[in-house]
Amino acid sequence: MLIENSFEMIAKTFAGLESVLADELIGLGADKVETLKRGVRFYGDKKLMYLVNLSCRTALYILKPISLFTVHDENDLYKKISEIPWWKFMDVNQKLAVDAVVYHSKLTHSKYIALKTKDAIADQFRERENKRPSVDIKYPDVKIHIHISNNNCTVSLNSSGDPLYKRGYRVSGGTAPLNEVLAAGLLHLSGWDKKTPLIDPMCGSGTIIIEAAMIANHIPPGILRKSFGFHKWKDFSPELWDQVMKETKKAGQDLFSGIYGSDISWGMVKIARSNVSKANLTNSISVEVKNISDYIPDTPKGILVTNPPYGVRITPANTQFFYKELGDSFKRNFTGFEAWVLAADNELIKHIGLRPSKKIIVFNGPIECRFVKFELYQGSKKTKHGKN
Ligand SMILES: C[S@@+](CC[C@H](N)C(=O)[O-])C[C@H]1O[C@@H](n2cnc3c(N)ncnc32)[C@H](O)[C@@H]1O
Repeated sequence: MLIENSFEMIAKTFAGLESVLADELIGLGADKVETLKRGVRFYGDKKLMYLVNLSCRTALYILKPISLFTVHDENDLYKKISEIPWWKFMDVNQKLAVDAVVYHSKLTHSKYIALKTKDAIADQFRERENKRPSVDIKYPDVKIHIHISNNNCTVSLNSSGDPLYKRGYRVSGGTAPLNEVLAAGLLHLSGWDKKTPLIDPMCGSGTIIIEAAMIANHIPPGILRKSFGFHKWKDFSPELWDQVMKETKKAGQDLFSGIYGSDISWGMVKIARSNVSKANLTNSISVEVKNISDYIPDTPKGILVTNPPYGVRITPANTQFFYKELGDSFKRNFTGFEAWVLAADNELIKHIGLRPSKKIIVFNGPIECRFVKFELYQGSKKTKHGKN
């Protein structure tokens, strides 16, 4: 069914999460959903645009294309950007920011493309209103996105503003926090049923456990955010936004309390606890100081999802030993569990010494990672690495 007043949107995500994102968008009511590289194209109306910004867990931002043309050089770009009626999208008193990405094109410098775009917009306002809008990269009112591929240029408005991984619960990140969008994507990929107890025994700042609790309790990921890009658009409808917020809040259910985080570092546990509290999830999640080697779970069955430390501040030999120990604790203490481990290094995963039953490639920004599943049952198989 075609939604009335429907328009095209592009949701951007990390490579490897495109189909998870497409499923999420379909679930939220998006139409004509099509996966792209690091993104998903879909159609919907203004209400859907507000809803996906509030509720989509695996999108980094939602773009609304406003113009599409071929471009041959920088002057051509300037001319075609000048032909867009910018006064329909923003006021001269609003601050703007432009970002550009370029693939396989004669135009190569994304910074220069952003500058040319900004000049064309500012010159158009100066000619019409004798005044130029100012640029503010950090706190813009209107964010414009230029995508050039094979000389095809798409000009979009970024309806999210700040990226959607900025959920608003992070009081502090600690040393190596996982991106919230990736954490939510991993939980979807794990196939977790949202009822089985979930443990992250190396939880750091608590990203995986907080995203899990939000999923289990049907809490929209953007509920704590103060603003989205579309709030500053000329066609923003506060009534429609209120309606979306009310309808979405009603969807929340009773709190699920089976989520457990722990970490060897007291400092990280303190950070995780303050993030959990900011997310209003203290009834769902408990966080304790524990070394994974000593971890005895309270439940006979469960799912473990974690991203262990990687060799940044430990020597490779120690890291290998750490992964071997990790495999030993999985076997010793987590029989009956399913364990999912995210790691950037395939070699390290081998040192866990257990045979994975699934391996999924995901990207943490530009870094290729493996998300690996181990089924831990009595007598689960040891591999060559596990025998030493
Ligand atoms: C890569 S970080 C996890 C980041 C986390 N996913 C987040 O979003 O903040 C790995 C964590 O493992 C913890 N860790 C290291 N050795 C541990 C051990 N033996 N037992 C439990 N936690 C450990 C570290 O303190 C660190 O917080």
